[in-house]
Amino acid sequence: MKKLIAGNWKMNGSLAANEALLLALGQGLDRASTGIARCDAAVCVPTPYLAQVQALKAVQPGLANLEVGAQDVSAHPAGAYTGEVSAAMLKELGCRYVIVGHSERRQYHFETDALVADKTRAALASGITPIVCIGETLTEREAGRTEEVIKRQLAAVIRAHGHCISEIVLAYEPVWAIGTGKSASPHEAQAVHFVLRAQLKAATDQSARVRILYGGSMNVANAASLLAQPDIDGGLIGGASLKAQDFLTIIAAAKI
Ligand code: PGA
Repeated sequence: MKKLIAGNWKMNGSLAANEALLLALGQGLDRASTGIARCDAAVCVPTPYLAQVQALKAVQPGLANLEVGAQDVSAHPAGAYTGEVSAAMLKELGCRYVIVGHSERRQYHFETDALVADKTRAALASGITPIVCIGETLTEREAGRTEEVIKRQLAAVIRAHGHCISEIVLAYEPVWAIGTGKSASPHEAQAVHFVLRAQLKAATDQSARVRILYGGSMNVANAASLLAQPDIDGGLIGGASLKAQDFLTIIAAAKI
């Protein structure tokens, strides 16, 4: 399975900073050695910058194969939902992916498994691949509840979307590893990915086609060993995706 390396810029950037980052990425991706042909790569940017990214892609040949994604989507198709952005709007702005149910949204915006399933449905209906995030908190891990929590979160996804699960990308992001510099070890991450794959296998015949990304302090030092694990099919990269050279190095580490 081709790996996917997706950057999550979160609420970072400015017109000037984005341009500098994307130009550096474009130059790096232009060089054959970065390996973009061997994996899929994307940047999930703040919604107001989607048009800027598309404009830069149009003039920078190195960015041609870099896909674009958003970081959230409304569960509703249109209407009186002030501040929301629909999947159709994201599609119009060239989004190939949208992150759904990131732990920061579950935590700060009280998103439930049910809402995450509705947002996933909205993305799929517009032809956008949802990157559905799941993961346990530190308290849950320390209480020995990791497996129970991730299985519950994945079960909600399978219940709602089991019939088209291969159109979804999953991201396992232990909450305690996000933005902390404390990544899960390759062994810890693989153990959880193995459980997720087994759950998918038991529920659908498409399990081998579902990409399961790891996210949480993936960086230039640990990317290769995380990505070498048999059930880790890519990465969702926060902090390191804001530095062109780091992001390029992680893309280069993603072999089929
Ligand atoms: P991080 O973020 O790489 O900065 O830990 C990952 C994420 O939140 O998607």
